[in-house]
Amino acid sequence: MTADVWVELEQAARRVMEQAYVPYSSFRVGAAVRGEDGSVVVGCNVENASFPAGICAERAAVASAVARGVRRFTHVVIATEADSPTPPCGMCRQVFVEFATSGDLEILSVTRDGASARWRLAQLAPSPFTTDSLSHH
Ligand code: THU
Repeated sequence: MTADVWVELEQAARRVMEQAYVPYSSFRVGAAVRGEDGSVVVGCNVENASFPAGICAERAAVASAVARGVRRFTHVVIATEADSPTPPCGMCRQVFVEFATSGDLEILSVTRDGASARWRLAQLAPSPFTTDSLSHH
């Protein structure tokens, strides 16, 4: 994958971060996922007065991609305004496991200042519960 594609994903994540609806945390997050077909789909966090009803940017992006028929992802960029790059939460890791491409998923987190951190999903979710787990009962 060329650097250009990371740049495109990063710009998309930064742009959608501005749409975040965060009246309770003031913590804006934007996410851009890249499908195996090269499509780029974005999402932002959307909070709610009933706090647990809020959704993270990453899962919003995945839901939007699935609604477009994109079900296999290769790369994700997460943009926040935190001082240090932040990893995806446990629920988002679990959702990524469901839709990651077979060759694993690359995750890049970036801050406004340009700091970044990179992981593979297998590092962040080393022993996941998967669709296969359901067949072992
Ligand atoms: N959040 C995300 O959107 N993605 C993450 O990776 C971590 C947390 C959101 C949830 C909530 O709206 C706010 O950030 C603070 O937790």
